[in-house]
Amino acid sequence: MKTFVLFVILLCLTFLSISKSETCPFSQSLVSGASATYYTDPNAGNCGYENLMGPLGPGNLFIAALGPNLYNNGKNCGQCFNISSPYTNRSVVIMATDSCPDSGYCQRSSHFDLSTQAFDVLGAQSIGVLEGLTYYKVPCGVNGNVKIMMKDGSNDYWTAFLIYNSKVTIKDVSVKITGKSTYTSLTQSSYNYWISPNMVPGSFDVRIESVGGEFIYITIPKVESRKQYETSSQFSVDGCVGTPSGPSGGLGSPSTGASIGTPSDASSLTLYALFSLTILFLVMLN
Ligand SMILES: *[C@@H]1O[C@H](CO)[C@@H](O)[C@H](O)[C@H]1NC(C)=O
Ligand SMILES: *[C@@H]1O[C@H](CO)[C@@H](O)[C@H](O)[C@H]1NC(C)=O
Repeated sequence: MKTFVLFVILLCLTFLSISKSETCPFSQSLVSGASATYYTDPNAGNCGYENLMGPLGPGNLFIAALGPNLYNNGKNCGQCFNISSPYTNRSVVIMATDSCPDSGYCQRSSHFDLSTQAFDVLGAQSIGVLEGLTYYKVPCGVNGNVKIMMKDGSNDYWTAFLIYNSKVTIKDVSVKITGKSTYTSLTQSSYNYWISPNMVPGSFDVRIESVGGEFIYITIPKVESRKQYETSSQFSVDGCVGTPSGPSGGLGSPSTGASIGTPSDASSLTLYALFSLTILFLVMLN
């Protein structure tokens, strides 16, 4: 009887850890009452991705500029949204790549200033302003791993990092100079670069934390203006609705020595341990 009770407890714990690892790293609640306008020069937006079809951009023109509330000083840069329209009964997934500071529509709590390509899916341009839209956040359908670039004009003593090609937004970027023992958190600027004012010549580690609390690490040999690296990982989007299918987890840059350490790694370890124990108990029962 005691063994049976233990077995049931273990089974419950196992299911708990399964459901824990399948929680989307951000809220996907449906928001209604959103509106949209369009603009025609979406390149070089405030999120720092430059040309949308260039190396830092999403590789397509399905983007939006967010009003101050949604833009949130850059915190929603790189977030993707699935927006549905009652005008066409269609939906479109866009990435936030810009801010929309204009007084007027952009000051609403949920307003998207869309590229014409995205707007056209949701309604005719002649309508001007689309009202009554609904949306929810979704992971971005990017290919390969999270990437990092050091800002134009970086030098041995100052740099700023742009994190891009991520499926989810970034909560924190920290730097540890080689030989030091602690990471220092950087400040995210409103133009989406993480400012690192206390660099020294030589190598350093960067720790990138997703909004879901998952970490990606990369070692960079030295500060170099506009130098880009692909890390060896992508953030997990297990449990998210609207996860785009397609290739993911491409090849990492072999020279950078990046690695990943995640809470879900820990919970799957727990899972394996619990499974082994459960099987052990089953064997003992027989
Ligand atoms: C969209 O769907 C609603 C509800 O099903 C329907 O009444 C409306 O005619 C549809 N509109 C278009 C443009 O298809
Ligand atoms: C966007 O949301 C709508 C409504 O929930 C859904 O039907 C559609 O499949 C979603 N699109 C994508 C690409 O996830």
